[in-house]
Amino acid sequence: MCGIIGYMGPKSVVPILIEGLKKLEYRGYDSAGIAVVDKGHIQTRRVKGKIHSLEESLQKSPLNGSYGIGHTRWATHGRPSEENAHPHRDCTGQLVVVHNGIIENYLALKQALKKEGHTFRTETDTEVIAHLIEKKFRGSLEEAVRAAAAELEGAFAVAVLSVEDPDTIVAAKVGPPLVVGLGDNETLVSSDVNPILAYTQNAAFLEDGEMAVIKPEGVKFFDFSGKPVTKKIEHLTWNPLLIEKRGFKHFMLKEIFEQPEVVRDTLLGRISLDSGKVRLDEIGLSAPLLKHVRKALVIACGTSYHAGLVGKYFLESLAHVPVEVEYASEFRYRDFVIDKDTLVIVISQSGETADTLAALRACKERCAAVLAITNAVSSSIARESHGVLYTHAGPEIGVAATKTFTAQLTALLLLALNLGQIKGNIDQETSYALIEEMQRIPHKMEKVLARAKAIEDLASRFVSFSHFLYMGRWVNFPVALEGALKLKEISYVHAEGYPAGEMKHGPIALIDEKMPTLAIVPKDKVYDKLLSNISEIKARAGYVLAVAFEDDAQIPQHVDVVIPIPSAHPLLTPFLTVVPLQLFAYFIAAKRGADVDQPRNLAKSVTVE
Ligand code: M6R
Repeated sequence: MCGIIGYMGPKSVVPILIEGLKKLEYRGYDSAGIAVVDKGHIQTRRVKGKIHSLEESLQKSPLNGSYGIGHTRWATHGRPSEENAHPHRDCTGQLVVVHNGIIENYLALKQALKKEGHTFRTETDTEVIAHLIEKKFRGSLEEAVRAAAAELEGAFAVAVLSVEDPDTIVAAKVGPPLVVGLGDNETLVSSDVNPILAYTQNAAFLEDGEMAVIKPEGVKFFDFSGKPVTKKIEHLTWNPLLIEKRGFKHFMLKEIFEQPEVVRDTLLGRISLDSGKVRLDEIGLSAPLLKHVRKALVIACGTSYHAGLVGKYFLESLAHVPVEVEYASEFRYRDFVIDKDTLVIVISQSGETADTLAALRACKERCAAVLAITNAVSSSIARESHGVLYTHAGPEIGVAATKTFTAQLTALLLLALNLGQIKGNIDQETSYALIEEMQRIPHKMEKVLARAKAIEDLASRFVSFSHFLYMGRWVNFPVALEGALKLKEISYVHAEGYPAGEMKHGPIALIDEKMPTLAIVPKDKVYDKLLSNISEIKARAGYVLAVAFEDDAQIPQHVDVVIPIPSAHPLLTPFLTVVPLQLFAYFIAAKRGADVDQPRNLAKSVTVE
């Protein structure tokens, strides 16, 4: 949901802003712009389209400057156009703003500012920020931003500069993330750490109601009342190389292939093969608290929600606690009832999803203990939760979540085992068996990945199909949902995920020779049931592709195509079954010429409601 960047330092600012925006492009990509200050003059360049269009424009007609700000947009107010692209200006053009978020009272502010004589040029909510700061400006940009912030309602992360207060960038936030990178003689401000990593590994994350005043001599932090704030400097551990494609055509494909490593990294140091124990002391929730958990409530969106659904099976089987899984966007508006023995588990790879964050806050207000499962260190969700279980997936750039999904599954399995052990609900033999099997999962994932070419060939045969049905049961029902979501979001092909037992209650009416079914059929307790469901589809001229164990001699007689995976413990099969579905979606999308890493209408980090 929009990416913002700012740079103050001795290096040439334009290439730094452009490189930074490329790394933030996954957050939004309908228009982009930069503003730089050169010898007391602001120069702005904005384009409709992606960063490469901005780059082309700058190649044709370069800008120079000593410091500046930039933005990549995901439109909320006002269609994607050059005029609506950020940075936005005040009446004088001497002050510019980049913004991520939504100003909820912008119409009222706009009307009032217009009455006072301000001239608006765009349809955006952001433009009111520029005019409001202009109105408040008395020589200090810091004070003007502070005064304006007091009148803004909604969510905003902003970076502002004005030639009337030279050599200054002011950043402030309520809601969306902002991180300040503290390099040698240079400071960056950004929506996430990715653009910063090339320059420094030292960073400070702004909290809501805080601002950073960036000058050539360094940065100072304040709260909105003007009180100086001492920020903790975090050491970023992500390797900048993780945000390169490294020979893969798309980030998504690279990230699919990174999954074995990601699962290993997320397990690392958390399991003991000697004792069969899972150790999660790091999460910050005490063993007595966990021992008294009588129910878990999982809240998430999108792919993280699907991971939560798989987690329900893990937690119920291994910890024997009842689990509810909720869409954050629905949950936050419910009159929900929660008791003190409920553990709320919020799952979010980005740690910034607005609905998940709002649901988390609502649960905290009702005194529930909240554990976050996230991939983003010091993200809003990580900071606001009582405990955090980090996934170690590294940065995920493809808008479609892949490696963060399997990392979330790993974290959920660890949590289920840990909770089961603390509560005494799981015997040692089961713990050992699962931990041992979990150790083997990354290698088995590698075996699935080694068959990518066969999945690519299979995808070639289905490129022109317009509808797909995905079905699974038990722990693979959520994988069916996830497989369908992957196909929908990157290839724009209609796909539905269903629990196979529900087919005969309606969806089977869709089946004909034009609607292939991807069935997830590992050998587990519902295997025979699934074979019956498959027969029902075959009896109606349906074409069935089955993800099944490679040593399953029976399945080829029941389906048209088998996509083999190594056999595994039934509960752990989602780690393997999801991989061919990710690859299938990827190859269909790539062959259809879709923009795989940046699908239309989407953004990686959904920081607006
Ligand atoms: O960052 P989060 O995990 O909270 O994001 C949740 C969803 O926005 C995300 O999973 C989305 O559905 C992806 N496009 C799925 O590929």
